[in-house]
Amino acid sequence: MHISRAGRRPPPGRIAYVDGRYIRHGAAGVHVEDRGLQFADSVYEVIAVSNARLVDAAPHILRLEKSLSSIGMAMPVCPASLAVILNETARRNQLREGLLYLQITRGAAPRAHAAPDDTSPTVIVTAKRMDASLMETRRAAGVAVMTTADIRWARCDIKSTGLLPNVLAKTEARKQGADEAWFVDGDGFVTEGSSTNAWIVGGDGEPITRSLRDNILAGITRGVLLQALSDAGIAARERAFSVEEAYGAREAFISSATGGVIPVVKIDGKPVGSGAIGPVAKQMHALYCELSRKISMV
Ligand code: PDD
Repeated sequence: MHISRAGRRPPPGRIAYVDGRYIRHGAAGVHVEDRGLQFADSVYEVIAVSNARLVDAAPHILRLEKSLSSIGMAMPVCPASLAVILNETARRNQLREGLLYLQITRGAAPRAHAAPDDTSPTVIVTAKRMDASLMETRRAAGVAVMTTADIRWARCDIKSTGLLPNVLAKTEARKQGADEAWFVDGDGFVTEGSSTNAWIVGGDGEPITRSLRDNILAGITRGVLLQALSDAGIAARERAFSVEEAYGAREAFISSATGGVIPVVKIDGKPVGSGAIGPVAKQMHALYCELSRKISMV
């Protein structure tokens, strides 16, 4: 019997998609020699579902295509078919509020480092329900982050499932009572969170986030928010900021598909600004949601 997190059984009726079949989540699995499992030879996307609609699906699928191409793989199905699979997985799970996890591995093959060119990719989609009010509580209270050395590789633009440094950082953050870990490069500059992009608000009120040139993931939420800011005529800066600058920032926030924009009220135990939720983070979430809704309509 497949046991889910913390030994609990998966909720009844949960359905996963694996290689063309919709199957009971508890019965879903991949080959023991799947290269995703053996080598993290795989990429992924996390797409939110809100009000039974996929959020920012088009840019997520586009980024997936880029990640695949960066590791020498083609899309196993066309974007339109992938959207059908994602929507169908959401429908079969009666997902109104939650997340879809999409993983594409290079497939199963006898274990050898060199990537074979004749494997058939494994496509996995799982669905997770989320209580929308939980995220709203985090948005209202703000979250704490801790900083930690960025020990990841030099291709963080690829949304690889090789997430061990991210797992270790987030686990340490939780141990220290923080919600997220911010990675810091060798020069003392924040790169991004373990599963979010990192932002601060400068003295002049401008949102600041690291540039995509500097080895971070091109977060979809980050991209939509930057577009929304540009549409609204609000200046934003894409540049590196140091931990010291973050300590002294007016506000800070994180962005991701899992939570939209969430304010950060503490960094390494020090209050950010007044220590309360600031107006900029709130405005950022509203702007992001407004544009994201428009994008998701098309
Ligand atoms: N993480 N940076 C990293 C390292 C991430 O893993 C993520 C997403 C982001 C934000 O990207 P987006 O806005 O596209 O969600 C930034 C997902 C949610 C995860 O791994 O669960």
